[in-house]
Amino acid sequence: MNKNYLSIIGLQWGDEGKGKLTDLFSSKACAVVRYQGGNNAGHTIIVDGVKTVLHLIPSGILHPHTLNIISHGVVFDPRAFWQEYERVSLHHEVTPKNLAISLSAPVITSYHRLLDAAREGSSSSESKIGTTGKGIGPTYEDKKILHEKLEKIFGEKKVLFDSLYKIEYPSLEQETEDLFLLGQKIAPFLKDTFTLVDELRQKEENKILFEGAQGVLLDVDYGTYPFVTSSNTAVGGLYTGCMPMGDHEVLGIVKAYTTRVGSGPFPTEYFDERGSYLQQKGGEIGATTGRIRRCGSIDFPLLRYGVKCSRITSLAVTKLDILEGLDEFDVCYAYEYEGKTIETAFPGIDFSKAKPLYKKVKGFQKVSMDDENFVNYLNLFEEMTQTPVAVYTYGPQRDEIVFKKSIFGH
Ligand code: GDP
Ligand code: IMO
Ligand code: MG
Repeated sequence: MNKNYLSIIGLQWGDEGKGKLTDLFSSKACAVVRYQGGNNAGHTIIVDGVKTVLHLIPSGILHPHTLNIISHGVVFDPRAFWQEYERVSLHHEVTPKNLAISLSAPVITSYHRLLDAAREGSSSSESKIGTTGKGIGPTYEDKKILHEKLEKIFGEKKVLFDSLYKIEYPSLEQETEDLFLLGQKIAPFLKDTFTLVDELRQKEENKILFEGAQGVLLDVDYGTYPFVTSSNTAVGGLYTGCMPMGDHEVLGIVKAYTTRVGSGPFPTEYFDERGSYLQQKGGEIGATTGRIRRCGSIDFPLLRYGVKCSRITSLAVTKLDILEGLDEFDVCYAYEYEGKTIETAFPGIDFSKAKPLYKKVKGFQKVSMDDENFVNYLNLFEEMTQTPVAVYTYGPQRDEIVFKKSIFGH
């Protein structure tokens, strides 16, 4: 039976294609909710050859009848939002009728952005996280006190800026003035989004879509700490950043290979021409920071772990077209770890001790059910995770997708 609530969760280190899938499913949804992360996200949608990159605005915005909600779990940068709003509204309707922003979303100020950059700048090369520099970490730290006064935050940051990092910053008066002016422009979008979602839930026929950002391996608690983001990117983030949804479909998005942007462990990373092949053919460049994404083969121990972290009910496998035409390629099916073979990663695993075990699979010429090697590769995702593949994609355009099973009204 088709469930009315669907969460889109990235199963790797982000950039799995969540934006494309959210856009597609939005045609069936009365509302699309972003519930964690901030403008560190970069979600790309391509419709009729026209590309839209979204950082804060939910990926339902291209569907005029869909209400887009930024709930209280999102860290909200009013400056970044206003720029995005001006850019997106040149081509699409973005009004308080189809976009609501939570009154209680924590605000990213100039001080958070400066602190993020200063911390990264002063870290040694091994401990640099390679953050997006958007102030995400420092804002999640201040989540509670941001409800009080900007002054209170400023007091502590000022000491850090003056004494520890020795950087310049806007005065309290300047920052207050800037945020006040922006606040006046944004005010019509501000709502009690908790009640809004709750009211939508009261009508049985309403379908609601929850758009995750990042991926489970960047989760602050389940991810490859300390090289993580600062929110819960696994399904738990939905419960703290919007509301518990009970029994619902959780669609895990997995790229046909693996990518990572920023620092941190990556067991199946390619350091040879195979990596540059995927990087170039896959157009693997960060949508938020423009950094080149590191590339490697599919990692099933991490995928199995991701599926468990988020109680994934179905998979969407993306970017399969990028593997077309290869004679054969490697898949990592397990790790050798402290003298044992392990099939599923776990929190706190020491990746420096995990040796990926590979097997070769035959390549496919076409993303097509007529190509036996393609069918075998797709089946491998189901066998390895014990989770059905609901959809798979073979290009960036909205309609380059195949439904294997019925899901969320499709
Ligand atoms: P997100 O952060 O998970 O939304 O993913 P991004 O948008 O950052 O990165 C995914 C990229 O892959 C985007 O440029 C998409 O347009 C593109 N994309 C998504 N699905 C496919 C696919 O099946 N094939 C190809 N070639 N590109 C895809
Ligand atoms: P989407 O939603 C890929 C990474 C950064 C860095 C780490 C911490 O497009 O999949 P932060 O600025 O969040 O404190 O940086 O997390 N990161 C992402 N990588 N896709 C994303 O989002 C990301 N958002 C954050 O590169 O390694
Ligand atoms: Mg992205």
